[in-house]
Amino acid sequence: MQLEDLVIDKDIEAEAWEALEKSIVYYHGRPIGTVAAVDNSSEALNYDQVFVRDFVSSAVIFLAKGRTEIVRNFLEETLKLQPKERQLDAYKPARGLMPASFKVVSIDGKEYLDADFGEHAIARVTPVDSCLWWIILLRAYVVATKDICFAYRPEFQTGIKLILELCLANRFDMYPTLLVPDGACMIDRRMGIYGHPLEIQALFYAALRAARELLICEGNPGNQDIVAAIDNRLPLLCAHIRQHYWIDINRLNDIYRFKGEEYGRMAVNLFNIYADSLPYYELDKWLPIKGGYLAGNVGPSQLDTRFFSLGNLMAIISELATEEQSQAIMNLIDERWENLIGDMPMKICFPALEGEEYRIVTGCDPKNIPWSYHNGGSWPVLLWMLAAAAVKTNRIDLARKALAVAQHRLRKDEWIEYYDGKKGRLIGKQSRKYQTWTIAGFLLAKELIDNPQHLPLVSFEELPQELVSRACEFEINTVDSSLYL
Ligand code: GLC
Repeated sequence: MQLEDLVIDKDIEAEAWEALEKSIVYYHGRPIGTVAAVDNSSEALNYDQVFVRDFVSSAVIFLAKGRTEIVRNFLEETLKLQPKERQLDAYKPARGLMPASFKVVSIDGKEYLDADFGEHAIARVTPVDSCLWWIILLRAYVVATKDICFAYRPEFQTGIKLILELCLANRFDMYPTLLVPDGACMIDRRMGIYGHPLEIQALFYAALRAARELLICEGNPGNQDIVAAIDNRLPLLCAHIRQHYWIDINRLNDIYRFKGEEYGRMAVNLFNIYADSLPYYELDKWLPIKGGYLAGNVGPSQLDTRFFSLGNLMAIISELATEEQSQAIMNLIDERWENLIGDMPMKICFPALEGEEYRIVTGCDPKNIPWSYHNGGSWPVLLWMLAAAAVKTNRIDLARKALAVAQHRLRKDEWIEYYDGKKGRLIGKQSRKYQTWTIAGFLLAKELIDNPQHLPLVSFEELPQELVSRACEFEINTVDSSLYL
């Protein structure tokens, strides 16, 4: 690629801004979010709603440009939608949950917000990621405006607390990771990501870090226990992911020679992973010497070796991954450019599930056929996370190259939601046009490359040392303490 190809076209940027403005939703005359897509050529379904996860991309670019009002309104209005009472009806959203999406409805000339917590969604999936993104966005707003008093308001303190009570509640499993049902995040369909998927863990980690900065104990005695619970959880979660999710050629070698059926404290193969369940011949070819990544999921006799972009990129941005691991992930993206970036940045996951595995794992989902949509499709929204990870690791050239690959096609194809095919050359079979997070993702990627000083809106530094040392004292047996550092 020539240097001039790396120059971002000003006209494309101006068109993207125009399209983003058109996606803004007003409530009582005030901007409160952006719709998922402004596409009149296909049935709206719920694409005419404001999705919490989709809005984050728009929100961060608005914050970077000083347009804080829309984000403030969004945070205030979504907070009002969060259920505050214990729910006895199991079909109703639990206390603390945030909706997947909402829309403005007009009854007798009066406007209301109608929220969907997954009870209307296709397959009734729970949007676990919404409440995590919500805390991350609240913290981004505070970073941008320096208005910490906004987050200290009692209703926000309660909102954060209710989310954390939901996430930190005792459950049956004994891992520091968060146990969730299938389709609980960006991949909101059955894709074999139930259990402890990386995407949720990376967002959980970032949300805990954000909540730790935003919660104030003074005047809120109830917050003390929550803060203590976060302090306990953070280092354990961090070390667990760094150790058990990590795959590189050395780790693959260890797993390849793992013994099974180990009982008791001294077990090395804690999760009883059987090497035969892994595509190790493929991985042996695919893993570059200096590359590595975090696995998609870890559980009893389960190591999902698919590469999931959002989880890996957010792990870099939030510093859930070590500095060395972050560099290795970026090396992998660089060395396996054709697979992970191809003709449209970037693959949601790699490789796709095919054949019998596709049929069993997705339930024969025609939208998720191999190399389409969530099953190995390419999603331009991921560009901004790639850019943020590139800034964080000082690999900006990779982001520049990816943006240059994307820009002309994005405009020509009218800001498509996703692309299909092994290299991302086909316009997604059921893809929407003028998909807002595609537009915002492009603008935000460009902004982060041009003005890396905006990175702290979404990024975190390494965990404070005192938390790490405390966790080392009681968890030394199960995790390698060097991984905290
Ligand atoms: C699809 C995506 C989901 C997104 C929604 C609206 O369902 O899988 O992540 O939030 O569309 O764009």
